[in-house]
Amino acid sequence: MPATQSVEKSWLLRDRALRSIPLATQTHSKAARESLRDIEPCYIIRGDGCRVWDVDDNEYIDFRSGLGPITLGYRFPAVDDAVRRQLDDGIIFSYPHPIEVEVAERLVRLIPCAESVRFLKTGGEAMAAAHRLARAFTGRDLLLTCGYHGWVNRMSGPGVPEIIQGTYRGLPWGDASPYEAAFREAPGEIAAVSVACSYADIDKGHGFLADLRDLTERHGALLIFDEIVTGFRLALGGAGEYFGVTPDLAVFAKGISNGVPLSCYVGRADVMARVADVNISSTFGGDTLGLATARAALDTYEREDVIETLWARGKQLMDGVNAHSARLGIAVRLEGLPPMPELTLPGGGALRTRLEGELLKRGVMIYTVCYPSFSHGEADVAEAVAAIGDALDSMAAQGMFT
Ligand SMILES: Cc1ncc(COP(=O)(O)O)c(C=O)c1O
Repeated sequence: MPATQSVEKSWLLRDRALRSIPLATQTHSKAARESLRDIEPCYIIRGDGCRVWDVDDNEYIDFRSGLGPITLGYRFPAVDDAVRRQLDDGIIFSYPHPIEVEVAERLVRLIPCAESVRFLKTGGEAMAAAHRLARAFTGRDLLLTCGYHGWVNRMSGPGVPEIIQGTYRGLPWGDASPYEAAFREAPGEIAAVSVACSYADIDKGHGFLADLRDLTERHGALLIFDEIVTGFRLALGGAGEYFGVTPDLAVFAKGISNGVPLSCYVGRADVMARVADVNISSTFGGDTLGLATARAALDTYEREDVIETLWARGKQLMDGVNAHSARLGIAVRLEGLPPMPELTLPGGGALRTRLEGELLKRGVMIYTVCYPSFSHGEADVAEAVAAIGDALDSMAAQGMFT
């Protein structure tokens, strides 16, 4: 089991970074936690397969997987070769590259709701495009949203004018009745419902997403699926394919290109055609590195049993962790579906952080949601499960779960 020695260089660099970078990171979920000072690695410098190495050269079995995009594994040869080959020809030009057509056609074939496709660079940006299109298409302003759709679509809190906050309503996952009530309260005003799957209770998607489909159709609103996590993970075509519900629009990012930034919004041709007057345009949309990687990743998804492997390794991880919890009689569990199980535990944040720390010391990196990749072998997962068992034993012995 890889055990960490010291993370001294990490914390020196992190403290230095704070002088020039607020939060010392661009991504909130990557921010090192003060309560894990001298335990948490703040900087990763290398990855290979399912493992990463920090700046102090400690090795970890990684279930954070870049916070989701690493579905195939680090340094996955087909993907990395595609980047190197594309570099020989150039990264971005002032007219589109033919690879756009090829990847768009492939996505139309693979994603049930995709009649047409456009590319951007981040998930949140593509969600914003889908929201804008839905408003233009329906001529309505109000959006009902469920789940996180990226910072650019977080329409509450400081920095968001009240008038804009009033055009979004965040509603919970799993039960369509608050959505029905919203449609009743604001007839003819709701442009779309956009939904990202929840994790631990994702199974509720079976009835919930079909109910939202029915509701939006009855009220002339669009249904948008945020497939940024679920796409190329739950199924190739994401939650839409897995739950058998076809939205009007959907957004894919993370797993589409195994880590090279790329996102796309896809859907009904008549809605997508509105990009002409809605004017969604980006200098970096259609850069060739993202698209070359997507082509290589899609080849791999179609050729190899990637999705089956994510399910199998995720199940092995869930079963292993949940067996340790049952043995110890504690309520620490991995819940939800195997490609993206969520860690649930009593007592909230402090205990979770403590467990993460104990795992980091034992060379295992987890997140609130664990992301198995195609490069996690059975032996890697078994090694991680043993380390998790050891960490839980030690915490239970200290009375942390009572
Ligand atoms: C479900 C979901 N939607 C949207 C986003 C935002 O994507 P990005 O960070 O690429 O803008 C995320 C990011 O984690 C996400 O998990």
